[in-house]
Amino acid sequence: MKLAKITAERDFRLAETDGRLFGSFVEHLGRAIYGGIYEPGHPEADEEGFRRDVISMVKDLRVSLVRYPGGNFLSGYDWTDGIGPRDKRPRRLDLAWRTIEPNLVGIDEFADWAKKAGTAVMGAVNMGTGTPKDAGNFLEYCNFPGGSLWSDLRKKNGHAEPHDIKTWCIGNEMDGPWQICHLDAHDYGKKALESAKIMKWIDETVELVVCCSSTSKMPTFPEWDRTVLEHTYDQVEYISLHRYYENVGDDSDFLASFTDMDAFIKSVSATADYVKALKRSKKTMMLSFDEWNVWYQQKLGRLDWSEAPPLLEDRYSLLDALVVGGLGVALLNNADRVKIACLAQLVNVIAPIFTKNGGPAIRQAIYWPFRDISVYGRGAVLRPVNHIPLKETRHGDSPVIANALVHDEAGGTVTLFAMNTELTDSVRLELDLRSFGEAEMILRTELSGPDIHAVNDFDAPNRVVPAEKALDRGEGGRFETVLGPASWNVIRFKVSR
Ligand code: AHR
Repeated sequence: MKLAKITAERDFRLAETDGRLFGSFVEHLGRAIYGGIYEPGHPEADEEGFRRDVISMVKDLRVSLVRYPGGNFLSGYDWTDGIGPRDKRPRRLDLAWRTIEPNLVGIDEFADWAKKAGTAVMGAVNMGTGTPKDAGNFLEYCNFPGGSLWSDLRKKNGHAEPHDIKTWCIGNEMDGPWQICHLDAHDYGKKALESAKIMKWIDETVELVVCCSSTSKMPTFPEWDRTVLEHTYDQVEYISLHRYYENVGDDSDFLASFTDMDAFIKSVSATADYVKALKRSKKTMMLSFDEWNVWYQQKLGRLDWSEAPPLLEDRYSLLDALVVGGLGVALLNNADRVKIACLAQLVNVIAPIFTKNGGPAIRQAIYWPFRDISVYGRGAVLRPVNHIPLKETRHGDSPVIANALVHDEAGGTVTLFAMNTELTDSVRLELDLRSFGEAEMILRTELSGPDIHAVNDFDAPNRVVPAEKALDRGEGGRFETVLGPASWNVIRFKVSR
């Protein structure tokens, strides 16, 4: 059996996790909104038509912010279509997903939903068909207290108080030829800069995220990122990253996706730091990983101009859940640069929560590792000394155990997240927590199972769920334990220092 050793020192800290690292994403796409968060007439619908069962699952996930309204949808969206009396709102062609958008939910309803779900909204302005002026108007509508055209319209529409949306994306994946009104890096950089100036003049407290490469696989990466940052560096706080993984045939390589994500983050940080040096800037650009997940892109669904069709409805297996756990670990281990991250998406569309129209909502397998990281990942990420065997993968050499350690000083706990990438072998783990004084294991869960391709469905919604494992007493702050093959493990300790 392979041996992995992790030694943690309480003063070796990488960074405190930003609360926004545990975010998600809801786009006007498929059944994310209609049939996902909103379904008037459903037995679980509240007075505004929001599904209570979905809200309760979102709350359990402790999602900290939700990016809205897109996505590719954003680049053709006129946000004014979604405000005011519902019977006056237009039914529009959504060119991004070739569906009919009924506009029954807009920013006011979404802000109401977010409040109910205990989460913040991460706004996004259209840089495709939209103009810098539209971006300013949208922000004025959302955040300006009153006494101006757009803020008074918000009040008239029943929202006396501003929505106070603090974090905004300036466009979405503008490097992609698939994007409505895609731009080259210079044109986007200039448009984003002018939009950012207008937005900051309207509300100087907002933080802005500029679009960078939509994946590390784009031929224009990282040149696009450098160019855009050269235009916008002084006006924005974050550069955005997107990356989806899928199983292209080798389960072991797929499990090592976290190594690729880590390398992507490091490359974007290095690109941003190059621009920092070029500009002689004192500011370090932070990262917003505002789309990440497993996504089987070939299973898109039919684009046939219907309303809320089932699109991107991936059904996730235990294997996918392990990969998501690994990706979560990569985000935690870069918490010094990645301040915002959004699991894409939240409901029905490549999502941890899956609903049946008129029927129940279930937790997909990927729900669990995201829940674990969101609930237990708040605190200081540590920089342990790791001795972990490596294996060769298509992403390069990759540790057989993906792991992150988080110290919640106020709560007096340390949590280890560990994913064993060995498909058939257990790995022995030695964990040294002596620098934390007394350490007592208080919780241990494992997500694993005999069938790595098992999924949760409406007939068996709990086929893939974490199981509690026996606690280990350890000896003087040292613990020895065995991580089962292909497993996601959460091990929590109560510590005295
Ligand atoms: O999340 C699904 C899509 O993936 C988003 O609309 C787009 O931004 C990305 O390509």
